Amino acid sequence: MTLEDPAGHLLSIQSYLLEEEKHHPEATGRLTWILSSITLASKYIAARCRMARLEDVLGSLDSENVQGEVQQKLDVIANETLLRALGKRAGLAIVASEENEEPIILHTSSDPERPYIALFDPLDGSSNIDVCGGVGTIFSILHHDRRANPTENAVMQPGTRQVAAGYVLYGPSTILVLTTGNGVQMFVLDPSIGTYLLVDRDVKIPQNSKSYSVNEAYANSFPEGYQKYLAWAHDNNYSSRYAGAMVADLHRILLKGGVFLYPPTQSSPKGKLRLMYEANPMAMIIEQAGGKSFCGTTRTMEVQPENVHDRVSVVIGSPDEVDRVQDYLE
Ligand code: AHG
Ligand code: MN
Ligand code: MN
Repeated sequence: MTLEDPAGHLLSIQSYLLEEEKHHPEATGRLTWILSSITLASKYIAARCRMARLEDVLGSLDSENVQGEVQQKLDVIANETLLRALGKRAGLAIVASEENEEPIILHTSSDPERPYIALFDPLDGSSNIDVCGGVGTIFSILHHDRRANPTENAVMQPGTRQVAAGYVLYGPSTILVLTTGNGVQMFVLDPSIGTYLLVDRDVKIPQNSKSYSVNEAYANSFPEGYQKYLAWAHDNNYSSRYAGAMVADLHRILLKGGVFLYPPTQSSPKGKLRLMYEANPMAMIIEQAGGKSFCGTTRTMEVQPENVHDRVSVVIGSPDEVDRVQDYLE
């Protein structure tokens, strides 16, 4: 191990963010402050996940979220944790979450000190928690447009406007993958010191891999192009992996290659995944790693949102595999 090797040079996520700031003379430190509160929340969520079945965090509540989905106890715990960590941070004007019907306006004034918006899926793949499967947190950071009227309209920005995006995977270890538009960095939480340490700098997705990730049980209701791609993949010795949590599936694809699909289905004709806090942050990470992301035949990050909870179909992963799916869709 050498000091050139990221794992050979001990660097915490806080030090990494300070190092990044130095490359941006215009930086005010507010983005670093917001990202560090997300890391704090994620450590708390990781600790709760780890205590599943020892603490009362499993199972569903009687409530449903705005999408009409049953909320798991940990969905609510994770959401409250993120809101508690982010709610009072300087630099943040609006937060929006899968679990809240409306974006939460933290500041209505034209306060120049609050130029950012944070969107998140507090717990992705939450039903996996009951069976000790991988779950995650996904986040997206946008600039706040103070001219928006009403204020909540400031959230409706395409993914190309994201200034940072990331996810945390709560698996056998807790992994944080982050981009601030300057490549993709990977950190692992060292639980013995409570700190995320950099383990890989400028992560690149493999160009291709004979692997796809999709809930194939719905295949009969996929549009024809997807069915044809899957038939081609069957004939060409592809393997299939599906965790049921986008974070877990895409983390594997980021490291090993392949394509993740969530096509339109009979029950979700527009697709199931949410544009603003699932598809867009993942698209920014995968594109920054050299991959591609489309919803149908449109680049995911160019879709103009109309509602914070908009759903889209998703084709994302290694560039050659995404191109191949596109060929079948066109
Ligand atoms: P969430 O738990 O935030 O609602 O997200 C679950 C999502 C995503 O993580 C996963 O890829 C997909 O739903 C699984 O859906 P199916 O069960 O329909 O395959
Ligand atoms: Mn999700
Ligand atoms: Mn969720």
